[in-house]
Amino acid sequence: MRPDELAVPGRPNLRILTSTASTNEDARRWAAEGAPDGATVVADQQTSGRGRLERSWYSPPGVNLYLSQIVRGTKESLRLVPLLGAVATRETVAETLAGAAAAVIKWPNDVLVSDLKVAGILAEGLGGADPDSSAEAVLGIGVNLNMREQDFPADLRRPAGSLAALLGRPVARNVFLKSLLDHLDHWRTHSRRAPEDLLDALRKYCATLSKRVRVSLPGVPSWIGTAREIDSLGRLLVETDGGKLSPVEAGDVDPLDE
Ligand code: BTN
Repeated sequence: MRPDELAVPGRPNLRILTSTASTNEDARRWAAEGAPDGATVVADQQTSGRGRLERSWYSPPGVNLYLSQIVRGTKESLRLVPLLGAVATRETVAETLAGAAAAVIKWPNDVLVSDLKVAGILAEGLGGADPDSSAEAVLGIGVNLNMREQDFPADLRRPAGSLAALLGRPVARNVFLKSLLDHLDHWRTHSRRAPEDLLDALRKYCATLSKRVRVSLPGVPSWIGTAREIDSLGRLLVETDGGKLSPVEAGDVDPLDE
C-alpha cells in the first residue's frame, strides 16, 4: 500500500471517496440510512469542505485527511462529541510528532502545534429538546498532514501549519488514519462510561486554560476575561473582569498576547 493511500485493511464501515462536497454531508446521509456507531467516511478531496461558524475548510486532494464519523448516543452524551474529536486528534498528532514538538488543544477543538493550527473539528447534529432520547452526531475532522506552507490560503483566520512542514518529512496518510480511528474508537466507547476521563484529558492539554482571552460569539460584542476551567458539560468558564464566571459553549475564544 502506498503511504499516501487512504485505506485501512479490515476496518468495517469505512467508506473511502475520491472526491466529495463535504464528508459531513455524506456521513449525515449514511446515518439517516441506519449506519452504525463509528461508521466513517474519508475523502481524498472536498469541494465544499466546511469549518466552524460557517467558515470553509480548504481541502485539496492528495495531501491531507478529511473524515467524518457517526457517533450514536443520548442527546446528553453527544454534547461531548466535539471534545472527543479534539482529544483523539491531539493524541494522534502527538504520537506522529513523537516528541519533536508539543500538540495542544485550543478550546473547544482546534489542535495546535507551535501555535499553528494543524487540525479542526466540526461536530454537527448535537443537542435537542429531550436529553434522554437516542440520537446521532457527525464528527468531522480535518488534519493538515502534507500541505506545503505556500499552499495554505492567504486569508486564514489564524496561522495554520501541516505536520509535514513541522517535521520536515512527509506523513503517511494511511498510518495517521489508522491511528486516528483507533483513538476515536477508544474515546467514543470510554467516554460513555467515564466522561470525566475525557474531560480530564482535555483539561490536561488545553492551552486556553488560565490565559487572558477574547470571547467572540456571533451577533454580540466580543469581551475579554480569564479562562478558568472546563466544566462537566465541556463548557469553558471564563471569569469576567467583574469576577463573574461565565460559561462559554461555542464561538471563538482567542488567547490575548499579553
Ligand atoms: C474548523 O476548524 O473550522 C473545523 C474544520 C472541520 C473540517 C472537517 S474536514 C472533514 C469534515 N467535512 C467538512 O466539511 N468539515 C469537516
